[in-house]
Amino acid sequence: MSVDENDSMAPPLQRRTSLVLLLLLLLAQAGCGQSSAPRMVFAVGGAPTELAFWEEVVRDFATETGQPVELLRRPADTDQQRQALIIALKAGMVDPDVVLMDVAWLGLFAASHWLAPLDGVERSAFFDRILEQVDVHDGRLLALPVYLDAGLLYYRRDLLEQFGYEQPPATWQTLLTQATTVQRAMRQHDPDFYGFIWQGRQYEGLITNFQEFAGAQGAFVSASAPPYRLALDVPQNRAAWHLMHDMIWQYRISPVFTYTAMQEEETRRLFQRGKALFARNWPYAWALHQQPDSPIRGKIGVTLPPAPAGGERASALGGWHIGVSRFSDVRPLAQAFVRYVCSYAVQKRMVLQLGWNPGRQDLYNDPEIRQQVPHIHVMREALLSAQARPLVPYYPQLSAIVQRSLNSVLAG
Ligand code: GLC
Repeated sequence: MSVDENDSMAPPLQRRTSLVLLLLLLLAQAGCGQSSAPRMVFAVGGAPTELAFWEEVVRDFATETGQPVELLRRPADTDQQRQALIIALKAGMVDPDVVLMDVAWLGLFAASHWLAPLDGVERSAFFDRILEQVDVHDGRLLALPVYLDAGLLYYRRDLLEQFGYEQPPATWQTLLTQATTVQRAMRQHDPDFYGFIWQGRQYEGLITNFQEFAGAQGAFVSASAPPYRLALDVPQNRAAWHLMHDMIWQYRISPVFTYTAMQEEETRRLFQRGKALFARNWPYAWALHQQPDSPIRGKIGVTLPPAPAGGERASALGGWHIGVSRFSDVRPLAQAFVRYVCSYAVQKRMVLQLGWNPGRQDLYNDPEIRQQVPHIHVMREALLSAQARPLVPYYPQLSAIVQRSLNSVLAG
């Protein structure tokens, strides 16, 4: 899809003015002055830098519109966030009004009619394919992508060079060879060094890792015709489960605590302390690894996850979408906040500040972004070919079953 240059150049001042006018109108309608603005709650979780970003966003929104937004802080773990939200939504509670949702829950939230349709959104600014796949249900737009995720392989460029490897691995087999060699040498002075770290704990992240070990032909293999049954017992998946198990128990390049403790932040911190050659993680880790005080700053590279034997590489599609609860008592205000979060200016700040991949496609051509985040166009390609998890209403239950079995395999 082509990017509409004019669209990206629409004067932010004009948009902001109309937003402020809308807010003033809504407040006046509600009979509220600035001092008695209605309560609006936004539920959001994530890594510490993410929460700091959201604090700034709500503060600026309040400054610009006079409407405060209360942040309901959630843990980073996606399953825990979903469970907390479901309690409020099942009970039809008026708060939270605005929710940030993992792409993995959209099928459930839409089928449960927990989201109010979004009005007044300029759809062409967003990736068509993502909106159609994830956010539009029965022709109605229920959410908007704030940021898109694709699983990546981070590697220590300096160590690969030191050991004479010119390229990061393109296959899991090569990763095993490189990781085993480098780990053996590094352990002579650092017994806690690992060849490869990834997310093996029993939670949603384990599923996305499994998708990448299994490659493009594996994971949730679906029939292309009704009744769309999903198959898991296919050779690619059996090979992936063996490989994941063997990384821990046979090759011993991944820590034993992979299956009890490893989630994204555990992986990110260990890699950042210089304790691994390879790490599987999402794009958010890049900016943190490159912070001025990071021991691995300037020493890393990033590529797509390797390919399994006889298969193609796959990157899991992740990401977080924003929507308004159907039970919200301040729906128009909540919608205005959603449009603000997804506006060009706020999304641009998110990219420059956190290095995340925006849900808006027009930002991938922004000159300042292209200069500061040179790999953004590579990410655009990775995102558009990434493997989605099944967008079915019962996906969280399906995921829980697979998580349990897979995690018990990893436990030996
Ligand atoms: C990231 C992804 C999300 C995924 C989660 C798994 O937050 O954006 O889609 O479900 O990681 O831990």
